[in-house]
Amino acid sequence: MTDAAPALESESKQPSALLPQVKAKLLEGKKGLIVGIANDQSIAWGCAKAFRAFGAELAVTYLNDKARKYVEPLAQSLEARIVMPLDAGVPGQMEAVFDRMAGEWGEIDFVLHSIAFAPKDALHGRVVDVKREGFLATMEVSCWTFMRMAHLAEPLMRKGGTLFTMTYYGSQMVVKNYNIMGVAKAALESAVRYMAAELGPKGIRVHAISPGPLATRAASGIPEFDELLDKAKSKAPARSLVSIDDVGVATAFLAHDAARLITGETLYVDGGYHIMD
Ligand SMILES: NC(=O)c1ccc[n+]([C@@H]2O[C@H](COP(=O)([O-])OP(=O)(O)OC[C@H]3O[C@@H](n4cnc5c(N)ncnc54)[C@H](O)[C@@H]3O)[C@@H](O)[C@H]2O)c1
Repeated sequence: MTDAAPALESESKQPSALLPQVKAKLLEGKKGLIVGIANDQSIAWGCAKAFRAFGAELAVTYLNDKARKYVEPLAQSLEARIVMPLDAGVPGQMEAVFDRMAGEWGEIDFVLHSIAFAPKDALHGRVVDVKREGFLATMEVSCWTFMRMAHLAEPLMRKGGTLFTMTYYGSQMVVKNYNIMGVAKAALESAVRYMAAELGPKGIRVHAISPGPLATRAASGIPEFDELLDKAKSKAPARSLVSIDDVGVATAFLAHDAARLITGETLYVDGGYHIMD
């Protein structure tokens, strides 16, 4: 549905050809965790492909047994040796992933957090009406998990590193139908800034990436999403929708040492949509 980034084009559906061909292995020697691949439409998959294409070694998680069959072949094509379940609602799973990376790698260089959740009735209703349970569930999965991942990553980032999360413009502006998720993303972006300040002296950088709308599984829960896509395309200066590969290369750049003095950012990968009124 979207135009691919020039550096990462010519994919096919063959598992062996899923990764883009990139000559410069700019992330060679770096190791990191990818959380949020549900299928080959996921933003986390776009990021994982870019990280791997630039030479990074990856650990990959899947939500549960149902998701496993979709994620495992993708993890295989990334040559990920650490592939583990991670459901934010299951106590101990997140810790187990970080323990395994500590045991196998000793250190890590980056973490990509690309998960969000809101119960249907909370997401589809007015912010004014959201019940306590819906609010807490939204905030827990969509915001707190990133703070917890940062907490667990800190001791493993002895030489510094980069923490990434995915946000959306609905945190800054009222976007129709984004509702309680906008509130959670605003908190998430604020957490990015506080954690960037706290971890900066250790060489750990923290970023939110803010892609334009992408037709993923998570997005299918948002009513009238096609209208959002049409608006994004016509209003963005680039007159183009973004692809998961566009998001992937931008994110991979920020993991490179050349970006060592960039932190606390919310980086828009949206064809410039956010500058327009
Ligand atoms: N699709 C868009 O238009 C868009 C735009 C901007 C930002 N984002 C954000 O990008 C991120 C990734 O979403 P996506 O669009 O790639 O959709 P997606 O459905 O492919 O990914 C969402 C992921 O969240 C995971 N998840 C949900 N509940 C979880 C839980 N309890 N524990 C662990 N994982 C859980 C799912 O397993 C899935 O892998 C989200 O934070 C989303 O808000 C999406």
